[in-house]
Amino acid sequence: MFFPPSVRRLLAACLGLLLCLTPEAAFALPTKDRVAAIPAPSPYSQESDPASDYRAARQRLSQLGYDSDQIRTLWGRLGPQLIAQLDSGALSSQELDYLLLPNCSPKLLERCRAYARTAPDLSPEQVALQVRIGLDRPFYTSMEEVRIPEDPAVLVNKYHPLPADYVPELEPLGSSYGSGALAPAAAQAFRQMADAARLEGVSLRSVSAYRSYATQERLYRDYLSQGSQRWVDTFSARPGRSEHQTGLALDINVARISAHFENTAEFAWLQEHCAEYGFILRYPEGKDDLTGYRFEPWHYRYVGTEIAQACTEKELTLEEYTASLPVSGDYEVPALFWQGDSLELGPGELLLDGVSYLSPQYLAPCLGWSVEADGPRLVLSGDGHRLVLSPGRSCRLDGRSLRLGSPALELDGSLYLSLDDLCALFSLEAVPVDGGLELTHLLPDPLIL
Ligand code: DAL
Ligand code: ZN
Repeated sequence: MFFPPSVRRLLAACLGLLLCLTPEAAFALPTKDRVAAIPAPSPYSQESDPASDYRAARQRLSQLGYDSDQIRTLWGRLGPQLIAQLDSGALSSQELDYLLLPNCSPKLLERCRAYARTAPDLSPEQVALQVRIGLDRPFYTSMEEVRIPEDPAVLVNKYHPLPADYVPELEPLGSSYGSGALAPAAAQAFRQMADAARLEGVSLRSVSAYRSYATQERLYRDYLSQGSQRWVDTFSARPGRSEHQTGLALDINVARISAHFENTAEFAWLQEHCAEYGFILRYPEGKDDLTGYRFEPWHYRYVGTEIAQACTEKELTLEEYTASLPVSGDYEVPALFWQGDSLELGPGELLLDGVSYLSPQYLAPCLGWSVEADGPRLVLSGDGHRLVLSPGRSCRLDGRSLRLGSPALELDGSLYLSLDDLCALFSLEAVPVDGGLELTHLLPDPLIL
C-alpha cells in the first residue's frame, strides 16, 4: 500500500508515540533502575534523579572555580567517578588541567604526571601531546601495530609498525613520473601534482615509491654494514616501520642529504603546493625528536588534502597532528549526525547514568522547530505540532498529556530529555553509524502497516 510522505510522517509519529510514550493516565513503561546518591530535589522526589551525581560533581567543581564548559568536559571524561576522585584527593588541579585538554584521556594521566616530572618546563599541552605521540617511552618500545594500514591518515613510525605481511593495492606511476608504484589515490595525486609542476617548469619524479618489507629489510641491512644502528636509525626505517611500505610515501627527485634538495626550485615549489595535492613533507627540519628521523627534504607522504592542509597551516608533523586529535570521553553522548552532518549541540548534551540526554532548546532548531521558553516550560512548534515540556515525567503534545520514559531534567538553566523520549516526540530514529548515531526521520515500511 502506498502512502504519500506527509501521511507516512503522520503514521510514523503516531507509531513512535505509541511505542515510546504512554498517556499519563495509562501505565508507565518500566525504566532503568537508577542509583540515588543524594536526595533528589523536586520534581524528581518520587524517583531517583538521574542527574544527582552530575549535580554533586558540578557543585564541587564550581567551588573549585571551574566554569560550566569545563565541568561538562570533566564530566565527559570521568562521569560519576569525579566525585570520589575529588574527595579522595586523587585529582589535583594539574590532573584536572590535563583532563580539560581535548586530546587527553584519563588513561594517559599517570604517564602525563610522570613525564611532567622529567620535563618540568613543558606546558600541560606539550606534556599531553608528547605523551600521546609516545615520546615518554623510548623509540621501538610500546609498539602498537597500525590497524588500518590503507588509511591515508595512517601513522607509521618508530612506535607504530605495519603488519609484517601488509601489501597495499598498488598502481604504477608511469614512466614519465619516475619509478615505482603507489596506492591508487596517492599515485593519482602525485601525477596531478607533477603535471601542475611541469606547467610551471618544475620537474618532479619519483626515485623511490612503494617498498616491500623485504626491500626495506635489505636497505636497512645494507646501511647497517656501513655504520652503527644508532646512526642508521636516524635516516632509515627498520623493516615494518617504513612509510614506503604503505604505498603512500615517495622520495622525489633525489634521496641523498648531500644533494641539498632543500635548496632547489623543486623543493620550493613543493613547499608551496604539495598540500593542495594531499602531500606533506614528512620529516621536516628541526622535528627529529618528534618524528625520529633527520630532515628529509625529498620524502613526501600522501595524507589527503584535508590533513595535508591542516598540517601545513599549523606546521605540524603527522605525529603532532594525530596526537592532537580530540579523544571522546567515556561519559560523553555519542557523536550525533543529522542529514549527513555532525550535530553540534555544545552544552545541549549530557550522559547521565548511562543515558544520553539532550536539550530540546539546542536540538529543536536543528530539526526546524521553533522554541519558546516560558519560565521552566518550553513550548516547541514544528511539523504542524505543538509540544510543551517541563521538568518531570509529563509533557503535552498537541494538547494531549503524555508520560515520558525518563524524567525531563532541569540542569544549568536548560531542560534535558532522554534521547529515546526526544526520538519518540520528534518521530526520529537514532541509527548506529560509524563513529556515532545518525538521527533520521522515522518512516515505517508501508507494507508492514
Ligand atoms: N627514510 C625513511 C625514514 C624510511 O626509510 O622510510
Ligand atoms: Zn623516503
